[in-house]
Amino acid sequence: MQGPEIYPIQLTSSDSRRKVGMRSNCLRAVLGASAVLLGIFGCERDEVTGPEIKASLAGGDPGSIAALAAEVRQLTAGRGITRLPSPAPVRPALVRLGQALAFDKVLSGNRDISCMSCHLPAFATGDGRSLSVGQGADGLGPARLHPDGVFIPRNAPPLFNLFALQPLFWDGRVFQDATGAFHTPAGGALTSSMISVFEFGTLSALGLFPVLSRSEMRADAGNELAAISDDHPEQVWSALMKRLGDIREYRRMFQDAYPGQKFENMTFAHASNAIAGFFTARLAFNNSPWDRFLAGNDRALTATQLQGARRFMRAPCSICHNGPAFTDNLFHNVAVAQLGPGQGDGLNGLDDFGRMRVTGNPAERYAFRTTPLRNVELTAPYGHDGAFFSLRDFIDHYSESDIKLRDFNIAQLEPALQGTVLPTLNEILATRDPLLTGVVFPPQAADELTEFMKALTDPAARNLSGLAPGRVPSGLPVSVRR
Ligand code: HEC
Ligand code: HEC
Repeated sequence: MQGPEIYPIQLTSSDSRRKVGMRSNCLRAVLGASAVLLGIFGCERDEVTGPEIKASLAGGDPGSIAALAAEVRQLTAGRGITRLPSPAPVRPALVRLGQALAFDKVLSGNRDISCMSCHLPAFATGDGRSLSVGQGADGLGPARLHPDGVFIPRNAPPLFNLFALQPLFWDGRVFQDATGAFHTPAGGALTSSMISVFEFGTLSALGLFPVLSRSEMRADAGNELAAISDDHPEQVWSALMKRLGDIREYRRMFQDAYPGQKFENMTFAHASNAIAGFFTARLAFNNSPWDRFLAGNDRALTATQLQGARRFMRAPCSICHNGPAFTDNLFHNVAVAQLGPGQGDGLNGLDDFGRMRVTGNPAERYAFRTTPLRNVELTAPYGHDGAFFSLRDFIDHYSESDIKLRDFNIAQLEPALQGTVLPTLNEILATRDPLLTGVVFPPQAADELTEFMKALTDPAARNLSGLAPGRVPSGLPVSVRR
């Protein structure tokens, strides 16, 4: 468990140091299992002593805004929440190749779905649904329908700022350890010569996996990729390179993207690395009001957003959502209801044990990666299974999360998923992160935190219509627009 000792809040003035002491006591009270239902947000009242801050609560003369901004800056620095640097530029020929591959249905077994069919530009690189719908289906985003009602077990996360994230996937099953070694579901099939192609770290490996999944892209039958046994990912990757090599334009694009190399000597690692280059170059967003605030502009955030920021930095929120991308890159159970077809875990195989699937550690049952929060305003629904449609509802669920989980509102789900919510209240609460014990906050806190989340939106992410190419080398329809 992490506590204030691990993420010390560094403040400078002696007055502030006194406040830190009080905050730590508050945190300890909340961390204790027997904490009174008062919560960290309740501690705040005793803590806020400065008359400037009280005045700013009433709504802002310039001096009080400056004082609040200064306090937020200090708290933020203590959480290691810094500006997100831009990634290094990526060579244009690699970006072009990655863009074509990401939007080309030729990577799917029956040529009916591309990567971006589930990571749609019109839905902030998600698909606007709780759970994705894979190959064999028709329609886009919320309108997508599978004839047999098949769902992918998890929500499609956005592809923003992936260069700053690792591990990848909700359960972190693709990651690099401290020595840089890759850990992926492919085991030894991911060879060292493939790894030597990777230029974008963990992200370069990710594109190797959706093409293997039968429900996402490969299909059970009807094509040469589907015929390959699941034990031979390397054969699926070679068959894909054969497909791509049959298209003269792709051969040229690969050779332009990797100067001096012959297409014949390339593997699907080159394709996956190119997709990572495209995501890195085109989906980095670090120009939000929050970034302008961190750069020194006190007026970049509204007064309400500043209040929300202060709550976020003091509250347990920033003990997990920290660093430039607002994630500790660790795994926690924050009491989200489980729904959908599941991952084959638990009763009838309908459950999803999250991180425990990767580590085998029962204490990590239902733990998922702390979600990065930049552009979160645009990426509904929320949670690993899209259980919440409204951002404010997700934030509000942290207040008395045990009661909220029991009273989870299934009416927000699409009809086909309403009957799939598992009755696992006690199991989920058994491994709920101790940081949530005793957390309760008033509606006003949920309002302010929600407003703060909106300050993390880079305006450029609101319209991604320029992301898709006009055409792809296979000649298949790009079809990602509504
Ligand atoms: C059928 C829908 C679907 C398709 C097609 C699809 N994805 Fe995804 N994508 C998802 C879902 C669902 C997840 C979350 C899976 C998980 O975490 O277990 C995901 C996760 C990811 C992630 C991890 C993001 C993170 O924050 O960890 C990346 C990157 C990604 N996909 C890229 C791709 C690429 C590249 C392709 C094509 C090769 C692709 N996706 C095809 C649905 C899809
Ligand atoms: C114990 C660590 C922890 C704490 C404390 C925490 N979060 Fe989270 N947060 C997570 C994890 C883990 C997820 C993903 C959970 C899942 O999908 O099952 C998440 C998901 C979210 C999401 C949904 C994002 C998305 O794209 O799906 C939002 C919004 C969010 N948190 C905001 C907050 C706010 C605001 C607070 C403080 C009130 C907070 N979090 C406190 C770990 C934490």
